[in-house]
Formats: sequence, structure tokens, C-alpha cells
Amino acid sequence: MGGEGQYIIDDRERKVFMLNREVLVSEDVLRLEMQRIFSKCWIYVGHGSEIAKPGDFVTRRVAGRPVIFCRDAKGVVQCHFNTCRHRGATVCNERQGNARRFFCIYHGWSYGNDGSLARVPGDDAYNECFQKSDFALKRPARFESYRDLWFMCLDPGIMSLDDYLGPAKDYIDLVFEQSPSGTMEVIAGSQEYDVHANWKLMVENSVDDYHLPTTHSTWLNFMRNSGVVIEPSKEAGLVLPTKGYAIDLGRGNFTTDNVNFRGRPVARWIPLYGAEAKEEIETLRAELVTRLGEARAARVADTNRNLVIFPNLVINDGSAVTIRTFFPEGTGRMHVTAWAAGPMEETESARARRLDAFLTFYGPGGFATPDDVEVLELVQQGLANWQDDPWSEMSRGLGKSEDEPQLNSDEHHLRTFWRRWNELMVDK
Ligand code: FES
Ligand SMILES: [Fe+2]
Repeated sequence: MGGEGQYIIDDRERKVFMLNREVLVSEDVLRLEMQRIFSKCWIYVGHGSEIAKPGDFVTRRVAGRPVIFCRDAKGVVQCHFNTCRHRGATVCNERQGNARRFFCIYHGWSYGNDGSLARVPGDDAYNECFQKSDFALKRPARFESYRDLWFMCLDPGIMSLDDYLGPAKDYIDLVFEQSPSGTMEVIAGSQEYDVHANWKLMVENSVDDYHLPTTHSTWLNFMRNSGVVIEPSKEAGLVLPTKGYAIDLGRGNFTTDNVNFRGRPVARWIPLYGAEAKEEIETLRAELVTRLGEARAARVADTNRNLVIFPNLVINDGSAVTIRTFFPEGTGRMHVTAWAAGPMEETESARARRLDAFLTFYGPGGFATPDDVEVLELVQQGLANWQDDPWSEMSRGLGKSEDEPQLNSDEHHLRTFWRRWNELMVDK
């Protein structure tokens, strides 16, 4: 079935969608992804709240590039390549901090936090052709933000971030509207872990509601024992207690849009939060209704969403808000970084509830992540047979008419990802 080198079979007449497992194991595919995806798309760098004060910086790798994400002395958010213009050493070797200068410890060139080359030891030995102004730290070709979420792109020709996000902005707004001032902050600290699996399996897993009842049965039982209803809805096609949809947001972006059953720190109480939390959660909800009106407040508080911004940013807005990004370290390995975010104005008790929910479900010690990591690694192990058994089945929910809803536990949104991925990877 399918031709050599064909990545997907997308046969709408026969209602068949298959994925060639080669794309999860091949070095050639990974090399091409670096050129056609990670060098061509908007890639998430960080949130402005991580560098709140002038001089604040964090260093990280984005799309494989070491960068300094910082706020310069004038308060402008910047992204510099963390690479000395002299011979290429990294010029900032701390994970985070506050600095007026970045100092290269090799020969001592130093740079301002706006990237300008400030000082060159012994610069009288250079001839008149050498101008310090020619040697500011390089930057990614484009660097733009939405709601203080900053992205970089290595391709100067890309559409604006605003256009790239398109209708995904409304889902980002739903997350940020939890805050009375519309400003979320990334809470200090991050979760970092490696998974021995291809990075695209994490994209799928982040939005795949089909796996919840099986992979996460322990967590669901824990919820059930605390008084949450977890029995699947009787409606056809649903595997979760409440209804949920899969929404294609264009350009490879997509989201789930689910009626909540698992609690929302803003602002849907579940017994797990304890009776004493009820009053505060009702106050939070009343504020939402006053500010946003009943309908929008219900969208913010009573629905949850797992949003993917193509290719490697996931915002999980459920029982906590998680911003998660991941990058391949090889075909069968990825590095994951995840941050918790919350409204700026949150009280100590609401923040504690949020962080508790974040740690209970997500992260290397939570109910979900270890099980997810386990299944993704099992997939990668099974893929060693890809040449003998080359196609993954992905047609769940395929072939619905336009007016039939695409459900969260179908694979419509996963196919959205793969179609965009394929479009970028295959020569027209
Ligand atoms: S490599 Fe940085 S000063 Fe020489
Ligand atoms: Fe999961």
C-alpha cells in the first residue's frame, strides 16, 4: 500500500488515513524537518513574565539554537543567538539571571543586553575596517509576540505571527481571560524531561483524548474516588464523561474544545479542591461573569482545551495551565520543557490549588506524564518493526459530513497536524 517514500495516505473517498511509520524513525526525515519545519515556522521562545525586569534573561535552546531571551536596559524584549561573534563561544552560560552585559570568557568580548558589542579587549590591534557596530549578537530573522508569548522564526519571509496564529488567538484569549487584567504569568521553575520517542508522538499525545480512559485509568479512578463523575457519556463516539470537539484552526494549528469534568481552578469546583475552596471559586466565577458576561465566562470556566500551535507548542488549559514545548534530540528522542502559568492577580490559596492540580496531573511525578512517557516509549520500541509493518491507522472519525461535529476522541485534529506536516515536507 502506498508508494516508496510516501508519508501519508489520505484517501477521502475510501475514508482511509494512514501514516508511514518511517517518519517517526528516519534520520533523513529528521534532517528535512530541521530545514522545512523548524527553520520555516514560528517557534515558541518564552513568555515575557519570565523576564519581568530590565536585564532579566533566560537561556535556552529553541529550534536547536542556543538563544538568550532577555529584556534589555530599555525594557525591550529581545532574542539573541547565544554565540560570540568572535569565534562562536556561548556568551551567557547561566540558565537565568539579571545582567547588564554578556561576557565571553574565551577572549573577553562583552555585549550589552541589547546585543550590541560593547567591549573588545585590545581593540587597538584591529585595523580601521573592524567596526564594533558590525558585530552585535545575531538574532533570529523574526521575533514577534502575542499576549507576551514570544516566538522566533529563522525565515524572514514568513507571514506575521498574528496571521500564523489566526483563529488560534481566540483560544489563547480564553486562557488569558482567566486573569482580571488579561495577563498570565509563567510561574517560576520548569519541568524538564527526556522521552525516548519521536517528537511528533508528543504532538499527537497532547491532544489525543482517545487514550485517556486506558492510559490514564489510574488517574481517572483517583478522580472517581474523590467524587468526580468519570463514566463515559452515552452519546455515540464519546469515550469521556462530557462532550468535546476537535477544531482545525488552520496552518497546522488545532485544539480540543471540551466541556470540563475534571475541575478548573478558574472557576469550576470539584470535591478534590475541598469544601473550603468553594467560596473562593464562586467569587472567581462571579468576577468572570461581571467582566466577560455569562456566555464568555462559561467558555473560560466550564470548558477546557489542549491547543497545539504548529509545530511544537502545546498549551494545555485544563485543571491547570501548562505551556509545553519539545524538540527532537534525534529521531527516537526528545527533550520536553513545561511551565505552569496562572493569572497575575491570583491569591495564594488559588495559586496553591492550581499548582497542586498541575503537579497532580502533569510532570514527571504526576498521574499523567509518566504514563504518557511510558506509552510513547512503547510506541517507539514497537516502531523497530516499521519496515515489516509500515502503516499506522489514523482514520477514526474520518468521512463525516461538513455539519457533523469532529469529536475530541476522534483523530481529525491529529490528521490536521499530519496534513500540514506533509504539505511542508513534500515537494510540490
Ligand atoms: S570567542 Fe568570544 S571572545 Fe573570542
Ligand atoms: Fe496522556
